[in-house]
Amino acid sequence: MAKVNKNYKNVSESYLFSNIAKRVNDFSKTNPDKTIIKMGIGDVTKPLAPLVVDAMKKAAAEMGNKETFRGYGPEQGYSFLKEKISDYYKTMGVSIDSDEVFVSDGAKSDVANLTDIFANDNTIIIPDPVYPVYLDSNIMLGRKVVFIDGNKQNGFLPLPYDGLQGDIIYLCSPNNPTGAVYDRDGLKKWVDFANANGAVILYDAAYESFIKDKSLPRSIYEIQGAKECAIELCSLSKTAGFTGTRCGYTIVPKALVREDMSLNAMWFRRQSTKFNGVSYIVQRGAEAVFTPEGQKQNQENIEYYAENAEIIARTLTDLGIWFSGGINSPYVWLKCPGGMSSWEFFDFLLNNAAVVGTPGSGFGKCGEGYFRLTAFNTRENTIEAMDRIKRLLTKK
Ligand code: MLT
Repeated sequence: MAKVNKNYKNVSESYLFSNIAKRVNDFSKTNPDKTIIKMGIGDVTKPLAPLVVDAMKKAAAEMGNKETFRGYGPEQGYSFLKEKISDYYKTMGVSIDSDEVFVSDGAKSDVANLTDIFANDNTIIIPDPVYPVYLDSNIMLGRKVVFIDGNKQNGFLPLPYDGLQGDIIYLCSPNNPTGAVYDRDGLKKWVDFANANGAVILYDAAYESFIKDKSLPRSIYEIQGAKECAIELCSLSKTAGFTGTRCGYTIVPKALVREDMSLNAMWFRRQSTKFNGVSYIVQRGAEAVFTPEGQKQNQENIEYYAENAEIIARTLTDLGIWFSGGINSPYVWLKCPGGMSSWEFFDFLLNNAAVVGTPGSGFGKCGEGYFRLTAFNTRENTIEAMDRIKRLLTKK
């Protein structure tokens, strides 16, 4: 008889965002007259930049011509894109070889798939609250997890402490969900901890392009010693509107070696065995993102979302509600008013204002009592949602 992976009993029955989608669907069925504004899952609303669309159209035409048609591509990505990504790192003062770049269909799959190259008896360090995929993908493998707590006192940026032990460390900066960003000193503490303990950091930089403050690091490789201990994941989902198009990349430095094995060679082996690469058309679109004109067009979208975040932040300030994020991040993380729990506030907002957010407790126990709003909606919807929240919370 086939034996199943019983670790699946230990993950919650449904993924956080599927659970929210189901509740919202149920609500809209019973309230067909209500216009729901979704500020839950961080899904973009701005279309792809014109340059990206042109590049994909051209690539699609190439695929329809026998002279330029392409079949299987390199699993790790075409060199035209890997070189552009390597050049992009130069703008941060970081030198990355193109064969340290692995193109993928996004950071979510890579962050979960990276578990393949590490043994199951590692202890995993996971910040709380944080993006649920880190925890769920390790629970599915039955791994031991140690949480490091984020809270108001440490600005939701936990640091290594005396006695902390672990082998694989997940960090996300700008953090999803809290919007908090590690400064250089904070990241240096993690890099030093990892190098001193032979640990590996899996650094999720999916929101790096939202960092406005020039003093804050956008890549962990801006920190000395990081190439010996860190893998960095990034995605075009939020930075270039690729949530539906799918493209991301992971950097595995050649200097990263554990137990005499090169993690770059292991990831290369893993990807060539289990992944057939991102489509040529999408990679041509991604290449356009990294051209100067593509960067300019995407920057306009990022600024649009940043202004939405400011509108959310202003509303919360007016209402006297504590929040973090929203400055160098598209996420605003707020304390639920009136002492409500995260899910109580979710239901309260949905039922009384038809606004959807993400309950903080879905990101870990330290998220209980908090709530996340995204700035990825349209300007009109963001303003309308804030008006509804203002009216609801000032009602006597
Ligand atoms: C989020 O809302 O946290 C993200 O959109 C989820 C994701 O990127 O997979």
